[in-house]
Amino acid sequence: MSGTVRTAVIGVGNIGSIHARQIFAGNIRGMELAALCDTDREKCRGFETVFPGVPVFASDGELFENSRRLGLDAVIVSVPHRFHTEIAEAAFARGLHVLCEKPEAVELRCARRLNEIAARSGKVFGIMFNQRTEPLFARAREIIKSGAMGALKRSSWTVTNWYRTQTYYDSGSWRATWDGEGGGVLINQAPHNLDLWIWMLGMPERVRGFCYQGKYHRIEVEDEATVFAEFPGGATGVFVTSTGEAPGTNRLEMAFDKGKIVLENGLLTMTELSVSERDFCFTSDSGSGMPEMTVRTFSYEAGRDGHSLILENFAAAVLTGEELISPGYDGVNELSVSNAAYLSSWTDRWIELPMSDGDCDVFSGILEEKSRDEKKKRGEGARAGDKDMRDAENEYSRRWSARW
Ligand SMILES: NC(=O)c1ccc[n+]([C@@H]2O[C@H](COP(=O)([O-])OP(=O)(O)OC[C@H]3O[C@@H](n4cnc5c(N)ncnc54)[C@H](O)[C@@H]3O)[C@@H](O)[C@H]2O)c1
Repeated sequence: MSGTVRTAVIGVGNIGSIHARQIFAGNIRGMELAALCDTDREKCRGFETVFPGVPVFASDGELFENSRRLGLDAVIVSVPHRFHTEIAEAAFARGLHVLCEKPEAVELRCARRLNEIAARSGKVFGIMFNQRTEPLFARAREIIKSGAMGALKRSSWTVTNWYRTQTYYDSGSWRATWDGEGGGVLINQAPHNLDLWIWMLGMPERVRGFCYQGKYHRIEVEDEATVFAEFPGGATGVFVTSTGEAPGTNRLEMAFDKGKIVLENGLLTMTELSVSERDFCFTSDSGSGMPEMTVRTFSYEAGRDGHSLILENFAAAVLTGEELISPGYDGVNELSVSNAAYLSSWTDRWIELPMSDGDCDVFSGILEEKSRDEKKKRGEGARAGDKDMRDAENEYSRRWSARW
């Protein structure tokens, strides 16, 4: 394939409209805005002025019926999480490439099914984990994968700088609800960090979760969570996240046999030991000495925004087979950890990974129950209507980049 990837954005809300504007403005190499689709008809009426000449559809079904006429190659799925998989599956069935927003799904079992369908389609499947393009994370991953630091011992990530106000939570009827979002900070904000954690360190073997619902906001879902994870080989990990702390923290610490990596305040500090600590521990004559160490730092340099880089990489994957920075298939990894953390918190027990079909059933049952209770308590439609949070567009895009 050559030329440009003719792309439709499905769900033109806060983030979808940013993707659409970037493509429409010609800022995404290899991508062209072929259509827009949103179920909010009033919102659709405004598109003509912002995106003159771009066809608009009020349902994905209508869009897909016209896909051949539009010469459509791909879709970006940026609707609320609950609808990600059914729309992505319908797109693959039409022979389209798919770039899905995070999280891949609300339930792990839906993401697993989508991955199977994507694989059978042979089409390109990407997911918008834009923070994978942040140079410090990529550098840390490179160092870890090179083996220079040896085996992982322990890691802890406190990422509590996802601060949100009550106005944010009130801005959309689907937000911060079990029925609409399927959870709170773990399913909405933290997927970026959980993905990076796993991208750097690999999958944990089992997870224990502690979720605190409505601790800082008038919401039913969790706005603070702690995940304790055990990795193969005995390494442990603690992941703490919150939308209720100001100022928040973003500090990732990873301890290895041959040193330590810390990311904080836009700085990666890498401390390398001259010898393996495990060897030193059993061969040193000293009772408290430590191996010799060298410290190197790498600082954060602001580059192009991650969303644009992922869009461009996706287009290149379609056009030239370039390797995806963020393959859609990886969506199951962070979702496994967040689903397991919820289930662990709800049932007060460890959850083994990969999550079994039985645990997936229990997860579905409890989530359904929570959605039912929530609706009963609230009364249908009692939440504020959808409000555009895109008042400062660049600020919104930056909000989803790594902040130090
Ligand atoms: N990668 C990131 O940095 C990032 C940032 C923000 C949001 N997101 C993700 O993007 C998705 C959307 O979030 P948002 O904040 O833009 O939400 P939003 O509510 O602002 O926008 C969603 C849009 O989808 C439309 N919609 C709903 N159901 C639809 C359907 N079935 N078909 C077509 N349109 C439909 C709504 O009318 C709305 O305009 C979420 O999954 C969220 O997690 C990702």
